[in-house]
Amino acid sequence: MAKKVLVSGGAGYIGSHVTVELINAGYEVVVADNMSNCDMTCFEGVKKIVGRDDIPFYQIDCCDYQAVDKLFTEQKIDAVIHFAAFKAVGESVAEPIKYYRNNLVSFLNILEVSQKHGGCNVLFSSSATVYGEAEKLPVTEESPRLPATSPYGNTKQMCEDILRDVVAATAGLSADGEGPVKGIALRYFNPIGAHPSALIGELPRGVPNNLVPFITQTAIGKRECLSIFGNDYPTEDGTCLRDYIDVVDLAKAHVAAVSRMLDGKMKKDYEIFNIGTGRPVSVYELVTAFEKVNGLKLNYKFAPRRPGDVVAIWADTALANDELGWKAERTVEETLASAWAWEKHLAGK
Ligand code: WQD
Repeated sequence: MAKKVLVSGGAGYIGSHVTVELINAGYEVVVADNMSNCDMTCFEGVKKIVGRDDIPFYQIDCCDYQAVDKLFTEQKIDAVIHFAAFKAVGESVAEPIKYYRNNLVSFLNILEVSQKHGGCNVLFSSSATVYGEAEKLPVTEESPRLPATSPYGNTKQMCEDILRDVVAATAGLSADGEGPVKGIALRYFNPIGAHPSALIGELPRGVPNNLVPFITQTAIGKRECLSIFGNDYPTEDGTCLRDYIDVVDLAKAHVAAVSRMLDGKMKKDYEIFNIGTGRPVSVYELVTAFEKVNGLKLNYKFAPRRPGDVVAIWADTALANDELGWKAERTVEETLASAWAWEKHLAGK
């Protein structure tokens, strides 16, 4: 029988792409989402892409313990991929309590219920933000985590630690129906792009904080001009360097990690993997590549540095490549074409 994977936050940007890839790989998927930062657009898109109308969907808040417990009682869950979290860096600085409560309580509930229902495999959606301004590049999983510069980043570090501790505490557990929790944290670099079908993608609310949605919204005319934050950094063209990972490639990394857990291939009960391409791309290069691949001119200007930005970060992907048997495949051009196709789809063009 197919293994069942709960995707919390499964109606969101990354969650919807992961749901598609899990179903394509033959897993049963249960989606849980409180719809606090999305609408049904992506879930409807998922159903169209996979040609199924029967994906179990729970509109619940993972901060509601009873609701999570009920879901685990009704569904025999073999693995959880936990996305359900707030993710706006600036907002987290302004409203730390909201971020700590939501991101920590929802994850604690997932872990407690996982343990209670006979144990589970838990994949946590972490971030390269845990590395801060790294001294040595590219960063490996052994690179030091630096003190977080925002409550958002801090919740990622804290949730990694909570997962590590719960895994250690539950190892070998088999009392009263309880069971061990095994865990993988995937540290994403900068996820961008959309599904090639253009039926699912990122749906930012209000003014986008992230670069690629700002680019596509400027290109479609929703925003007047892109500001490139800083062109006096110590890089070749003066703009920041990031590791932009295609969202479909990222989704496939989740399938590889879940399979590793479910097939008993983990080397330790708690593992961490960097999920990136291993290639640094500057903001300016990305903008130019977007213009070229989509055959258009973008209205942009150079603006002051954005506070809190690191100069450069990219991944050493050797561990993920070797252990997960996964590698990023789409080129940045393909990804930027998919982001533009999605923006046009949203605009009905
Ligand atoms: C990328 C580059 C900006 C917007 C953040 C979070 C991280 C992760 C992903 C998500 C930077 C520049 C941006 C714009 C610009 N979390 N930029 N003009 O900051 O690397 O990472 O998103 O959930 O934790 O910190 O991504 O896309 O915001 O910026 O010039 O209008 O683009 O300065 O160099 P970032 P980003």
